[in-house]
Amino acid sequence: MSVKTYFVTGGCGFIGSNYIHYLFERYDNIRVVNLDKLTYAGNPANLKDIENCSDYVFVKGDVCDSKVVEEIFQKFRPDFLINFAAESHVDRSIGDPGSFIMTDMYGVYVLLETSKKYGLERFIQISTDEVYGSIEEGSFTEGSSLKPGNPYAASKAGGDRLAYSYFVTYKMPVIITRASNNFGPYQYPEKLIPLFVTNALEDKYLPLYGDGKNVRDWLYVKDHCDAIEFILEKGKEGEVYNIAGGNERQNIEITEFILDYLGKPKNLIKYVEDRPGHDRRYSLDDSKLRNLGWSNKYDFEEALRATIQWYVDNRDWWRPLKSGEFLEFYKRHYKMEL
Ligand code: NAD
Ligand code: TYD
Repeated sequence: MSVKTYFVTGGCGFIGSNYIHYLFERYDNIRVVNLDKLTYAGNPANLKDIENCSDYVFVKGDVCDSKVVEEIFQKFRPDFLINFAAESHVDRSIGDPGSFIMTDMYGVYVLLETSKKYGLERFIQISTDEVYGSIEEGSFTEGSSLKPGNPYAASKAGGDRLAYSYFVTYKMPVIITRASNNFGPYQYPEKLIPLFVTNALEDKYLPLYGDGKNVRDWLYVKDHCDAIEFILEKGKEGEVYNIAGGNERQNIEITEFILDYLGKPKNLIKYVEDRPGHDRRYSLDDSKLRNLGWSNKYDFEEALRATIQWYVDNRDWWRPLKSGEFLEFYKRHYKMEL
């Protein structure tokens, strides 16, 4: 069998790095080219164990830069493109939407255009459940209307629909995935779970927004990677696939689970001003994917305990990230010192 080349963008981030690990654990006859701009969220340490592997190529660059994207196509002729590259933090998108619109929309355009020019087998656009907006009851299907409620979600919805338009207009082999909230190792400690675990470990406050009762559906990142690979193999061109965790929890439940696991007191919880436009609940119906034969492999509570323990065991990974610009963002955003 010929060696397949995976062109992964944003592979130094949380999900992208887990996906590259997943690929190398699963196959030994593939090549991976990772294009990453190394923004504050991109961390080469996430892939330290494979950085010298001969089947792995890292290119530092921007998905909005058509020259670098074209060079990759010319040199490596990828079979599959999996686009993880994005500005991904809702709170940052509220203060600075411009960079989200560039990467999450214009960057998708550059990748699609170049893929169209050179051709490839699959273009997987990693979208998100946030494009649907909030739902009080029931769950969104792939046919539900999109009502993104913050600049991150809106720019992702733009990239999502642009990718679809390249299937309709140019018959490109595009598939779009919309997953729920991921958790696992290597997640930048600005997101709920790694922020709260690392703050608790240092006996710092856990800033919980509003009444703490917003609901997210949690998906273990390893299940997410497995679902992406399943969709790449078995999914149909032009289709959207929801990927749910099936684990809806209020933020306060997640927070208490973390504190209980770490044996830390509940008075570390600090209720803070709510996020503007804070989506109340996310919920996905992913029966379309399940009917195709995919299912989660990990138990939620076990995976959450393993994740918390990973941050306990890898302080050297996250400590340097909670410094410099992060501290300034934290102070500005939460109106308190870390
Ligand atoms: P992340 O912020 O951890 O990583 C993003 C990566 O993209 C970083 O390595 C960053 O350096 C890189 N990047 C940013 N701008 C770039 C650019 N212009 N060019 C090249 N690289 C660039 O994000 P994540 O949590 O790993 O999310 C990955 C993808 O999955 C995103 O598209 C996100 O929208 C989607 N998603 C995330 C979740 C979640 O819960 N984290 C859920 C569903 C979907
Ligand atoms: P987050 O991890 O930012 O993911 P998203 O906004 O994409 O769902 O937040 C998850 C939930 O946790 C969301 O309801 C907002 C809430 N949250 C807090 O209460 N405090 C925080 O400091 C953060 C970062 C999030």
